[in-house]
Amino acid sequence: MGDSIYKRKICLCILLTLLCFTLGGCMGNEAKRRIVRIGHNQSTSHPIHIALTAFQDYVNENLGDRYVVEVYPSELLGSQTDMVQLTQTGAIDFCVASNAILETFSKNYEIFNLPYLFASTQAYHHVMDDPAVTGPIFDSTKKAGFLAVTWLDAGTRNFYTINRPIESPADLKGLKIRVQQSPTNIEMMRLLGGSATPMGFGEVYTALQSGIIDGAENNEMALTDNGHGDVCKYYSYDMHQMVPDILIGNRMFLEGLSKEEQAVFEEGFQIVNRVEREEWVKAVERAKKRAEEEQKVTFLYPDQKPFVEACQLLHHKVLDGTPQLKPVYEAIQAYNQQYPSSAGDANIEPSEAGKEREQDPSGKGNNG
Ligand code: GCU
Repeated sequence: MGDSIYKRKICLCILLTLLCFTLGGCMGNEAKRRIVRIGHNQSTSHPIHIALTAFQDYVNENLGDRYVVEVYPSELLGSQTDMVQLTQTGAIDFCVASNAILETFSKNYEIFNLPYLFASTQAYHHVMDDPAVTGPIFDSTKKAGFLAVTWLDAGTRNFYTINRPIESPADLKGLKIRVQQSPTNIEMMRLLGGSATPMGFGEVYTALQSGIIDGAENNEMALTDNGHGDVCKYYSYDMHQMVPDILIGNRMFLEGLSKEEQAVFEEGFQIVNRVEREEWVKAVERAKKRAEEEQKVTFLYPDQKPFVEACQLLHHKVLDGTPQLKPVYEAIQAYNQQYPSSAGDANIEPSEAGKEREQDPSGKGNNG
């Protein structure tokens, strides 16, 4: 993982350079304009970057006399965990972090890491759009110095492997599968029978290529945008999780804004959410097509039932360990009843090419 030491060094250099710019700026005409730094770990063509660029434009247009927004992609400011810590201390102002890693900052985030939590994409979106459900969770890190300002769609997470097709949990036995750095994900992997290998997102490609791991789990974008499909040739729609990405901001920065500025930033956060979700649908469609046609990835549509059953224990474990999540869990079940498996999940249906190879998917919903 020399790669990650190298990245950390680059990150340090960037931060020092940023500091110099800030100090230099204070002495010149830029003194009145506060630089707002946002970090994320995706490429510049990813929906997250496109959405943050829209935010940048909006804030610069409306508060350009006072603020200059700068967006740093591709882990330039470090891994997600590094960036959350930088946001916590105020070294940067915002970053995008997967809900998965936020669980190590507040146990409340465990809820959205539960496998097979949502019945459908619609249920997932309605839950995430309901401030009565997300509000207490998003504010739960205030004491730690940051809070969530909006959520971003990161699709459905599925297993993909170098050369062993995953048709049932039994196929995961003996395989080292990269998971995000969260206790819930590690436990999920244990229940499914694979061997969890937690690591940062930026390290996964090299780990796959060198055979340190046998596979990983993520949305379709990881195949194309991050090149994982160059190495992994089987992608299995077991649909174990819908884990949102979360835009978090430094508390002192947010609370220091005037009423007028707060309104502009708030509108900006809504723009991030809207643009990212629109872009997401198109990006996933393109990714799947490219993975299938150019990278020659085979998409599989296993029966989700055995996966769902293997994971049920985790729901009880998390709710017993973090009882304050019980009302949230119940609210989610109400949305699940209202939006059972649905047409919104049609993008996971096999393509014409895939249909020839695969059986018909039995349950389209995330909970089988
Ligand atoms: C997705 C998600 C990222 C996350 C990554 C991961 O790409 O959007 O926020 O870092 O998965 O698996 O680590």
